Amino acid sequence: MSTEGSKVEAETAAVEKPVITVEKLVKKYGDRTVLKGVSFDITPGQVVALVGPSGGGKSTALRCMTGLEPFQEGAIRVGDARLSPGPLASHKRELQRLRLESGLVFQTWHLFPHMTALENIIEAPVHVKRVSVEKARNAAKVLLEKVGLSHREGALPRNMSGGEQQRCAIARALAMEPKVLFMDEPTSALDPQRVGDLVELLEHLTESENLTFVIVTHEMKFAQKLADRTLVLYEGHVIEDGHPDDVLASPKDPRTRTFLGMDD
Ligand SMILES: Nc1ncnc2c1ncn2[C@@H]1O[C@H](COP(=O)(O)OP(=O)(O)OP(=O)(O)O)[C@@H](O)[C@H]1O
Ligand SMILES: [Mg+2]
Repeated sequence: MSTEGSKVEAETAAVEKPVITVEKLVKKYGDRTVLKGVSFDITPGQVVALVGPSGGGKSTALRCMTGLEPFQEGAIRVGDARLSPGPLASHKRELQRLRLESGLVFQTWHLFPHMTALENIIEAPVHVKRVSVEKARNAAKVLLEKVGLSHREGALPRNMSGGEQQRCAIARALAMEPKVLFMDEPTSALDPQRVGDLVELLEHLTESENLTFVIVTHEMKFAQKLADRTLVLYEGHVIEDGHPDDVLASPKDPRTRTFLGMDD
């Protein structure tokens, strides 16, 4: 990550080198091909919403990019980690690298139930990055403040609201200082008020951190508010790629129009 703070430099780099490259990705479950040669580049700092009908392959694409699923053809690069086809067990080094480059916030957060908010956040920096406990605690406190959770530092997940648990999970992912943060349906378990809070938090993070977001969502309003790019994944193909204002307001592909309920 650049510490120079040169915006121009960062922008030039953004144009030149994508932080994520997905090339002709093919993913099969048994005989079924779920991703049929998906390709896209994502530049640093972009906020990308991955949308499309149920079963289109959004979560699968995310799982491949986060090293949770093996794939059969193509290539994925996230930061300096390169993933290639074949069993996950044969790519241990690159998967380790991937864990340092990216964070993942699951739909249901997956916090460690027996640990407090603060302990959840320092777990990976201490045990994976070998940061001292004191340093990790200090960094965690800054993150808790950032996600508006300072007052819940000592709370166990079961005593936190859904929105609080989610913000804790975001802080936990950020504690590893990832280049990319992946999120699968972050709004699905939140009430409308909490969705607004999440938009605000993520907007704040995109402004203050040198972070790239890839967010799978079903909420078009959420995508429109937050993202500067929308990819529509339909039956294993990217059928639309552009600014949400264009893609969601005047899609080119008739299948996107149908998906958005614009055919009447
Ligand atoms: N572990 C699995 N084994 C077999 N098929 C799977 C598996 N996971 C997903 N699939 C299939 O792959 C296709 C894509 O699923 P995926 O979960 O990526 O869709 P999605 O776009 O995330 O959908 P949703 O919006 O409903 O979450 C679906 O047809 C699904 O049934
Ligand atoms: Mg899904």
